Amino acid sequence: MNNFGNKVKNKIYAFLFWQTSFGEYLNKRYDLSVFFKYSFTNKKTNSKQSKIASLTKDYHIVEKGLALPYTRNEFGKQKIIKLIKDAKLYFNEYGKDEIILDIKSCLSEYYEFNKMNNIDLNNEYFKSISSFISDESNKGIGGTKIITKKEIETATNFDFETFVKTRSSIRDFDISDLDITLIEKAIDLARYTPSVCNRQSWGAHLYTNNKKVLEVLEFQNGHGGFKESIKGVIVITTNVAMFTKLETNQIFIDGGLFAMSMMYALHFQNIGSCPLNTCMPYIDEIKLKKKVGINENERVIMMIAIGNLKEEFKVAISNRRDLNQILTYHN
Ligand SMILES: Cc1cc2nc3c(=O)[nH]c(=O)nc-3n(C[C@H](O)[C@H](O)[C@H](O)COP(=O)(O)O)c2cc1C
Repeated sequence: MNNFGNKVKNKIYAFLFWQTSFGEYLNKRYDLSVFFKYSFTNKKTNSKQSKIASLTKDYHIVEKGLALPYTRNEFGKQKIIKLIKDAKLYFNEYGKDEIILDIKSCLSEYYEFNKMNNIDLNNEYFKSISSFISDESNKGIGGTKIITKKEIETATNFDFETFVKTRSSIRDFDISDLDITLIEKAIDLARYTPSVCNRQSWGAHLYTNNKKVLEVLEFQNGHGGFKESIKGVIVITTNVAMFTKLETNQIFIDGGLFAMSMMYALHFQNIGSCPLNTCMPYIDEIKLKKKVGINENERVIMMIAIGNLKEEFKVAISNRRDLNQILTYHN
């Protein structure tokens, strides 16, 4: 397209997405189109990731059941029969990997729980569980674990208030290079964020090469005045393939929670961060993903600008609303 053509195109584009509600509608339509194409409601495009997510969702139901105050004997029969059937299908297609071993480990605890409660195991249901587990119950990580109040009290015996209140969005980083191992550690810690049915759909795309950082920031509209200071960018994504019906919003909730954990983990590593919005027309999201190596089935949740801390620097106060404006008592 020639220059004039481009100018006209950009004008129409800017008008559509920033001046009309129709742009909002188009963005929502993109939300749904990606969801219908990749989520595991769509049996046609069911990827390995979708199958892992679906199996995780289903075996997590068993884990949760085992962690209740009063677990029912033989609970979840139909769900467990389906879980074993799906796990076998998965195994036939992809072989034995972590997910299969985790399911075995979880079902082994379920089996032992029923055994301990003197449930008759001499029937087709329990035989199918036992044969599925075979002798591999200890190779995976599934089921429940014991935590003590004391452990939690010991772990939380630090000044959380100061920790939380010393994190700020930083827009003035040190010029020194980032220590990648510290960032890896922060991302590693962020993996402990809760997620819907433990599906952990997250992606963390890390860019530290200056050229790449600038390429990513090209699509972001909130870094005016501190672009040069930014030493790295993490683009937080969630994989739509790991979601199912009624979860179009969950994609952003899980991604948002992951991003917050990451910012706290970066803070813990003394790496400065600034969350960056990705409020962009869907056309830009498509372009960004293509340009910086993010898969089409990932949704871009937000970016996090990172850099080392200067000895002293200014941050915006960002005063908080009063608690009474947020907390509503319902007695
Ligand atoms: C999702 C999200 C997007 C944000 N986008 C931007 C941005 O584009 N540019 C920016 O300078 N700050 C951005 N911020 C930072 C907010 O301005 C900041 O979090 C808020 O004022 C609270 O301040 P604090 O983070 O220092 O506590 C964003 C924050 C969030 C959570």
